[in-house]
Amino acid sequence: MAGLKFVFSILIFVFSMVVAVDHESIKSAYWPSWDYSTFPASAIDTSLFTHIFYAFLMPDAVSYKLMVSKSECSTLANFTSTLKPKVKTILSIGGGDEDPNIFARMAATKMSRKSFINSSIEVGRKYGFDGLDLDWEFPKTPEEMQDLGELFVEWRAALKKEATDTCRPPLLLTAAVYFASDFFLAEVHRAYHVPSIKKNLDWINVMCYDYRGSWDTSSTGAHAALFDPASLVSTSDGLKSWIEAGVPRKMLVMGLPLYGHTWQLESHHIHGVGAPAVGVGPGINAQMTFSEVMDFNNKQSAVVGFDPVTVSMYSYAGTSWIGYDGPMSITLKIGFARAFELRGYFFWAVSGDKDWKISKQASMTWGP
Ligand SMILES: *[C@@H]1O[C@H](CO)[C@@H](O)[C@H](O)[C@H]1NC(C)=O
Ligand SMILES: *[C@@H]1O[C@H](CO)[C@@H](O)[C@H](O)[C@H]1NC(C)=O
Repeated sequence: MAGLKFVFSILIFVFSMVVAVDHESIKSAYWPSWDYSTFPASAIDTSLFTHIFYAFLMPDAVSYKLMVSKSECSTLANFTSTLKPKVKTILSIGGGDEDPNIFARMAATKMSRKSFINSSIEVGRKYGFDGLDLDWEFPKTPEEMQDLGELFVEWRAALKKEATDTCRPPLLLTAAVYFASDFFLAEVHRAYHVPSIKKNLDWINVMCYDYRGSWDTSSTGAHAALFDPASLVSTSDGLKSWIEAGVPRKMLVMGLPLYGHTWQLESHHIHGVGAPAVGVGPGINAQMTFSEVMDFNNKQSAVVGFDPVTVSMYSYAGTSWIGYDGPMSITLKIGFARAFELRGYFFWAVSGDKDWKISKQASMTWGP
């Protein structure tokens, strides 16, 4: 562990000196709008971020225009007026809990793409956003990947045209994507349309988490492992796949989870990453925000460990086990992102932090 820390310290030092300055760094996070009452946008410490994503709006399943309810209308307006001009705001469309078939149908024809694109720009401008983000989880076939590539082409063209017509800076266009550039684990093999991504997006948010979870209760896991000696399911391998597919490093923004996944240990005597488990642990859907993990660790006097192989934190009390990212793993991951010359990082989700501990650590480690 000491050796690894040392190597990373050197990497952070060396690369912080040579990192090109022509691209602004991205220090960002998604804000879940459903946390509005407990965690309003006004609670965000904007000094720690460059961009905040509003999560989420969805297009209507028939017209493919963005649906904005009355309550969303005021939440959207409050979000941008509260955060600007301190940070840039990006409207994210989609989300992991939404039906991917709506996007598949929308992207399949020129007419439906046009309706969606038009509405995204209208809504984005109406509420004063600086950009748009698509979180389609996920295209299921090579055809849908092709359609997504086409959507990006037409979306970028529409953004350019709107900017010219209105004499304003164009809206940013980003997408949240799978941790790897192709779905090598899936039965239906498909890969993202990298040339279209490269040409039409400002950057991509690579979702470097959820590698392990409640769907496999046989053993504990580091759900956002930086390294995995036994497979290609890790953040380092995923990011490498994007780079090898041709996406410039300065278009890659690394996802960092502000939550953990939980398991029930078979025995509290065997408690590392990969220890035998018999079921899911505490938390809704066997997940806990970083803030909940900190409270759990305190209340239960949990034992906290660092796993140098996966670069992750874990804690356990009795047989309840949580794998998560803490200050130490976040520092090393940011060092890795710097060494890899990535554009920046994003958190899912900003409301999961505890007293800004992780966001501060990340921002400080990244540097200006
Ligand atoms: C947004 O909402 C928060 C919390 O409800 C409130 O304190 C703040 O004044 C609002 N901001 C604006 C610009 O409306
Ligand atoms: C969207 O469509 C409407 C109606 O055709 C049009 O007036 C408007 O300019 C379009 N907006 C954009 C951003 O293309």
